[in-house]
Amino acid sequence: MDTHKKNAGYVITVLVIGICLNLSGKWAAAALDLPLWFDAIGTCFSACLLGPVYGAACGVTNNLIYGIFHPVSMVYSATSAAVGAIVGIRMQKGKMSHLFDAMTTSIMVAFASTVVSTPLNLLFWEGFIGNAWGDTLYWGLCDRGIWQILAAVIGELFVDFPDKIIVVLIVYLILHAKEWRKKKVHAESLYAGLFVFCSIVFFEIAVQEVAIGNNGWFKAYLVFVCVLGVIYLTWLATVIHSRKIIEKQQREIAFAKRQAEMGNQTILAIAKTVDAKDGRTSQHAARVSEYSVLIAKALGWGEAECENLRQIALLHDIGKIGIPDAILNKPDRLTEEEYRIMKSHVEIGAEILKDFTLVKNVADGVKYHHEKYDGSGYPKGLKGEEIPLNARIIGIADAFDAMSFNRVYREHLDQKTVIKELEKGRGTQFDPHLTDVFLELIRNGSVSCDIQTTKQSAP
Ligand SMILES: [Fe+2]
Repeated sequence: MDTHKKNAGYVITVLVIGICLNLSGKWAAAALDLPLWFDAIGTCFSACLLGPVYGAACGVTNNLIYGIFHPVSMVYSATSAAVGAIVGIRMQKGKMSHLFDAMTTSIMVAFASTVVSTPLNLLFWEGFIGNAWGDTLYWGLCDRGIWQILAAVIGELFVDFPDKIIVVLIVYLILHAKEWRKKKVHAESLYAGLFVFCSIVFFEIAVQEVAIGNNGWFKAYLVFVCVLGVIYLTWLATVIHSRKIIEKQQREIAFAKRQAEMGNQTILAIAKTVDAKDGRTSQHAARVSEYSVLIAKALGWGEAECENLRQIALLHDIGKIGIPDAILNKPDRLTEEEYRIMKSHVEIGAEILKDFTLVKNVADGVKYHHEKYDGSGYPKGLKGEEIPLNARIIGIADAFDAMSFNRVYREHLDQKTVIKELEKGRGTQFDPHLTDVFLELIRNGSVSCDIQTTKQSAP
């Protein structure tokens, strides 16, 4: 509903419709001898469209007009004002969007009506409600020695409870008419409609039966209202409980998402730290992770496994943090001792990540990414499939990036030479099957070294 369009014409139109709805409801209830007021549909409708002030104004105006014919109705302007104000405030707070909230609104309205009307009943009508069922209950309770004020409250609530539930539900259904037209009918709306329909039919039958003197229907009505109350309270408790569970689950999901996001950002930050140490291999970890994921996808790995591999690959050279800059960035060939220190980055990395549980098998992937298929690699000289698969994948991606991008000690190689080198290393340095997969990625253009970049992998 657009509550901003409050120009005079719109306000007057809504108020007139509201008053007509109120009077129509009241007269219909009277004509059918229904034990309900039905005189607040328009007040609630106006309150929803125009806000609490106009809602209250609609209610008061309605009572004043009706008061021309029945002066005592004028004092109940206070009740109508309360109804309009409460519904308007609830609407502004977005509490008329769902059936559950509308039901809660209707209960609030029923209690408010009782609180405002009962003193007026006692003052002007000796506590009588002015309604067949309410008065019968009130009189019965007084007859059994119940305190008059309490009897008056119960009698009024007895009528207000079903009356306001039905009235607010009718307004709820009117407000959601668009959804009905679009056939986006919620199950809850259907239940509400069914409930309203059954209630009206039931009351009509009840009144007719009483008119011919069958007082058993009054007892049935009493049971109906009690059952209604129990159903509503059970429903209320269930909905509140479910909402709490859902909210808890949503909080947990949001927390887990934040944790995962934090984890990803931490891993990326670590990878960038390593890259920053080795200025001329900028983005090395990012590229290796991208090549690794391309290989994994070609092998048919799932999304989660690929993501895990991406993170391992991002961290594969984390151990370089422990390598002195003088060795890491040395422009000349490394001495034997320097090379020994350089090789220790895999074990340093594994040591750093040994308690890192965020990424599965990360320490293995980091530790063994320089192992060679023929067992001539380091640090353990593992052979063939002894080398963890993720390390074999990262190994080939790492070697490819080392060849295809500029390094401190040499310029990058052209694609033809890189392919030749990969073929040469097939079965010796690299896993033969993974080499074939990677060569295919180069041939089909998914990976290229000529332009020193890769095509974006599929999301
Ligand atoms: Fe490495």
